[in-house]
Amino acid sequence: MAVLITLVAAIVYFRIFFNSSLFLLRHLQTLYLFGNDFRGSPILAEFGQFKNMTHFDLSDSNFSGHVPMEISHLSKLVSLGLGGSSFYGGNKSKIDAATFKALSRNLTRLRDFILTGNIFQLPKLQGLYLFGNEAPNGSFPESNWSSHLEALYLSDNRFSIDLPLLLKNVPRSLTDLSLGDSNLVGSYPALLSNLTQLVYLDLSSNFLSGKIPPSLLNFKRLRSLDLSYNNFLGQLPGNFSSHDSSNHLGSSFLITTLSLSNNRLNGTIPSWIYALPCLEVLELSNNLFTGEIDGGFQSTSLHTLSLGNNMLHGLIPRSVFQSLNLDDLDLSSNNFTGTLELEKLLKSKELSSLDLSNNNLSVSFENSKNHSFPNLQDLGLSSCNVSEFPHFLRSSKWLSSLHLSHNQIQGSVPKWLWEVGKNSLDYLNLSHILLTYIEPLPWNNLGYLDLRSNLFSGPLPIASPILQFLSVSKNQFVGDIPTSICNMSSLWMLDFSHNNLSGIIPQCMGNFSKWLSVLDLHGNKLHGTVRTTFAKGNSLRNLDLNSNHLEGPLPRSLVYCRNLEVLDLGNNLLNDTFPDWLETLPNLRVLVLRSNRFYGSIGNSKTRNPFRGLRIMDLSNNEFSGILPTKYFENFKAMMNAEKTMYTYEVT
Ligand SMILES: *[C@@H]1O[C@H](CO)[C@@H](O)[C@H](O)[C@H]1NC(C)=O
Ligand SMILES: *[C@@H]1O[C@H](CO)[C@@H](O)[C@H](O)[C@H]1NC(C)=O
Ligand SMILES: *[C@@H]1O[C@H](CO)[C@@H](O)[C@H](O)[C@H]1NC(C)=O
Ligand SMILES: *[C@@H]1O[C@H](CO)[C@@H](O)[C@H](O)[C@H]1NC(C)=O
Ligand SMILES: *[C@@H]1O[C@H](CO)[C@@H](O)[C@H](O)[C@H]1NC(C)=O
Ligand SMILES: *[C@@H]1O[C@H](CO)[C@@H](O)[C@H](O)[C@H]1NC(C)=O
Ligand SMILES: *[C@@H]1O[C@H](CO)[C@@H](O)[C@H](O)[C@H]1NC(C)=O
Ligand SMILES: *[C@@H]1O[C@H](CO)[C@@H](O)[C@H](O)[C@H]1NC(C)=O
Ligand SMILES: *[C@@H]1O[C@H](CO)[C@@H](O)[C@H](O)[C@H]1NC(C)=O
Ligand SMILES: *[C@@H]1O[C@H](CO)[C@@H](O)[C@H](O)[C@H]1NC(C)=O
Ligand SMILES: *[C@@H]1O[C@H](CO)[C@@H](O)[C@H](O)[C@H]1NC(C)=O
Repeated sequence: MAVLITLVAAIVYFRIFFNSSLFLLRHLQTLYLFGNDFRGSPILAEFGQFKNMTHFDLSDSNFSGHVPMEISHLSKLVSLGLGGSSFYGGNKSKIDAATFKALSRNLTRLRDFILTGNIFQLPKLQGLYLFGNEAPNGSFPESNWSSHLEALYLSDNRFSIDLPLLLKNVPRSLTDLSLGDSNLVGSYPALLSNLTQLVYLDLSSNFLSGKIPPSLLNFKRLRSLDLSYNNFLGQLPGNFSSHDSSNHLGSSFLITTLSLSNNRLNGTIPSWIYALPCLEVLELSNNLFTGEIDGGFQSTSLHTLSLGNNMLHGLIPRSVFQSLNLDDLDLSSNNFTGTLELEKLLKSKELSSLDLSNNNLSVSFENSKNHSFPNLQDLGLSSCNVSEFPHFLRSSKWLSSLHLSHNQIQGSVPKWLWEVGKNSLDYLNLSHILLTYIEPLPWNNLGYLDLRSNLFSGPLPIASPILQFLSVSKNQFVGDIPTSICNMSSLWMLDFSHNNLSGIIPQCMGNFSKWLSVLDLHGNKLHGTVRTTFAKGNSLRNLDLNSNHLEGPLPRSLVYCRNLEVLDLGNNLLNDTFPDWLETLPNLRVLVLRSNRFYGSIGNSKTRNPFRGLRIMDLSNNEFSGILPTKYFENFKAMMNAEKTMYTYEVT
């Protein structure tokens, strides 16, 4: 007698029919199907037959259609998951957005279901996971909520939630309340004054503003509070002296996770935060905090500390680095000062992410010793006065992102780096260093490669076919643009500008990636006719071929670049008539043809509003003849209204 079926994220592809043998298992108590793909199977009324079912979860499984009323027959249900995304440790970002959207649309009947109150009134229900649906309207039953309800996850839904009404009805036994990204309406009054059992509260991404109400910072029971991505401003309270005397010492709080990032909080970080004894996760990044880090943290369990992008200054206390559990440390983009010998400071073998970029720090390594951070995934040491590659990376098999820009490292990219993150490295930023040599790149999963402003020479180090961003601008690379570039069908940014590349522009340049938005070949020695065929429906917004030796006519397929905003063909040997066939490009702002061999008359315009978005047109130094048609210039409305600073155009 099967009582439990778990097919969690087993990626099951099949449809469930009413005659499925699944429905013969009448005694089923637990059915976990979340994280699968049921190809839009309906949630069948037959699910209502499992009278003994206590745990039922269909979240993120591509079911479609209505939620049948029969679900309310499952009177023993303790936990019901109908969320669009997986709560159970799943990674939301991995959900295919299109599938999710399609599925959610088909769940709009969920609204009616909520209105009847059946879900909330299931008498034994303890947990309801109803996040990530797209039902446009919803409200909650006024009474008869399951008095056992402990966990209510309503985040990420499209319907708005009337908070005062919700608070009136939820039983006081509630321990977990998740209302992130929830279109909250109404005020959030003394939220915790009634929900005294609350342990987990998520109000992130809700446009909440003003000062953080002291009642939300009542940490007598709360273990996890997420107020990130709101518009909270002002200072955090210096202490909790006001109404509750038991509350004035941070050291009596049991809170483990406090996330206030992405608000507009200012002032210094109050001392009670450092005193929190059980703190594991503290996220204050992207605010306006000032002052120094005061002393250090009392908690020995701190594993995530995120203070990036504030206005903190001064020395960083040693204690910040020395937690044995430290997993994620972000101190980037502040004004911290001092010299840090990393391996001496860092004690945690768990370290997975470290970002010290953009401060006034000077970071050095003890490259003679065998330090290792085997779990390190992300390392950011941009502008840290670093003079060599950190050897400790040798053992970081899962390295995913390495940012070392704006440092003083000289010479070659070391060979051992090739072995690091061979299948995991996604982001490599070595821009603005003094590097001279790099071999063809071995990383299979590289998505972002930024090598601009170094002293690299030799042939282009073409990288993985899944690259999305590639800039090698301002180096001395030579040779042809390899045709293997045509395999990079995910590229949206390609910048080879200011090198010594020669040869022709490969024909595929106009259609190898339908995402390509920027193609910058400015300042090379490319020659020959531009034979590139631009595909219909391409995404190109910026095409810069300025300062090469290109000749002959323009490819007429340029007219398919409907998104083009900047077309810079200046300083070549192009020989064609004025391209009035580009006059219908709706977004073209900048057209530069200067210093070429364009000839003939300008103004054979066939439309009423030629070049209607144009703000800068530079035709100088060509062989145009005849008179300039007033029609063009009368119609350059955009140019007349343009704000002066919006488009700057550098004459090179
Ligand atoms: C179940 O029903 C589906 C759809 O009606 C049908 O295609 C399938 O053959 C049936 N399977 C069994 C085992 O009866
Ligand atoms: C949603 O419903 C529409 C119309 O009933 C159907 O065509 C579509 O396949 C369904 N989508 C999913 C993901 O099941
Ligand atoms: C609440 O439950 C009681 C008793 O079961 C019932 O009489 C009443 O109609 C219910 N109220 C609502 C609004 O469902
Ligand atoms: C707390 O509960 C009482 C009784 O149900 C209610 O009158 C009051 O409005 C609630 N307070 C808040 C802030 O929701
Ligand atoms: C950062 O600190 C340095 C030295 O302490 C100081 O000169 C500088 O003005 C500070 N910068 C900012 C943006 O606060
Ligand atoms: C470095 O590691 C190697 C191999 O793990 C070991 O033999 C050697 O003693 C270590 N050296 C130091 C200085 O720790
Ligand atoms: C940068 O590091 C070098 C040693 O590599 C050191 O001599 C220099 O003082 C550092 N510069 C700053 C601004 O800290
Ligand atoms: C690389 O770093 C530089 C300097 O910090 C930054 O401007 C650039 O955007 C970074 N490149 C990418 C691809 O993120
Ligand atoms: C493009 O990729 C295919 C398949 O991976 C490979 O066979 C082909 O040689 C590549 N083309 C170029 C020009 O690198
Ligand atoms: C690009 O265009 C060329 C020439 O029109 C064509 O042969 C090739 O198949 C196209 N490639 C893609 C990826 O569309
Ligand atoms: C431009 O091309 C035309 C026709 O192809 C040719 O007659 C003319 O000489 C060329 N002009 C220059 C300056 O090369």
